[in-house]
Amino acid sequence: MTRKKSYPEEALATMRWYIDAGCDEAVMECPVNVYTDVRRIAPHSVPERVLAETDFRQKPKIFLPSQTFEGPSTRLKGTPSSNEKLLAAQCENLSQLREAISNFQGCALKETAVNLVFGAGNPSADLMFVGEAPGADEDREGEPFVGASGRLLDQMISAIGLRRGEVYITNIVPWRPPGNRKPSSDECLACLPFIQRQIALIKPRVLVFLGGTAANALVGTSQGITRLRGRWLLYQDSGDTSGSQGIPAMPTFHPAYLLRQASLKRESWHDFLSVRERLRAEQL
Ligand code: URA
Repeated sequence: MTRKKSYPEEALATMRWYIDAGCDEAVMECPVNVYTDVRRIAPHSVPERVLAETDFRQKPKIFLPSQTFEGPSTRLKGTPSSNEKLLAAQCENLSQLREAISNFQGCALKETAVNLVFGAGNPSADLMFVGEAPGADEDREGEPFVGASGRLLDQMISAIGLRRGEVYITNIVPWRPPGNRKPSSDECLACLPFIQRQIALIKPRVLVFLGGTAANALVGTSQGITRLRGRWLLYQDSGDTSGSQGIPAMPTFHPAYLLRQASLKRESWHDFLSVRERLRAEQL
C-alpha cells in the first residue's frame, strides 16, 4: 500500500518541481491568472490583504524566459541610451557607480532580483574578469561568482599564481535574470554603460571575458565563444575620447560551461596560461 503524502511533503514536492522547471521567483505573493479576473474566478484563493493591495488595472509583470532567450551568441543591436551613458560617465569612483546602478530604473531584472551584484575584488587590479550575470547564490549574497562556478573560477585564478582578492570580478548585468536565463540583448544594452564605466575606473591591464555574453557585449562581435576563445581581442571603450590604445581581452569558456563540459578545461587552461604571459608582459 502506498502511503499518502502528508501536506508538507506534497508542498515540498511541488516546490521542488517549480524550482526544477525554473519557476524560482516569487514575483507576487500569490499566483495570479493574468488572463482572467482573479477576483471573479478564484475569490477564495487570494487573501483579502493581497486583493486590497493589488491594482488590477495595471498590467501584471510577466517574465517569460523563452521570449527573451536569444541563443548562444548575440551581437547587441543599437546603442545604449544617452541618459544611461551620462549617468555612468558622471561617476568618478566605484562607490558612486554602485550608487548610480542601484538607483537605475532602466532594467527590469532589478525587479525580480534580491540584491544588486556589483563587482568585487581589488579596485586597482591588473587583471579583471567579466562574466554574464549573477546566479542564485550571487543574488542571495550580493557578490559575484560565489557559487559552484565561482569556486571553479577561484581554482583557475590560483592556477595562474593569483588570489581572488588580487583580481577584480564583475558581470555584464548586475542583477540575476529569473530562472538563471541568459540576459537578453536589451538588458545587456541597458547595463552596458555601467560595465564600461566599471572597466574605465578599474583600468585593468588585461581583461578576461568569461563566456560569449561578455565578449559579444564588450567587443561587439556576434561569434560564439567556441570560435572566439583563445585569441586576443582588443577592448575599446566607445565613449573614451582619451585616445587610449584599448585593453587586451581574452575570451574564454564560462566556468559554468566548464562544469558541464569538463573536457574543455584543457582549452581553458591554455587561455589562462596565455593570460598569465600577457599580464607579465604588460607589467614590465
Ligand atoms: N555566472 C556569472 O556569469 N556570474 C556570476 O556572478 C555567477 C555565475
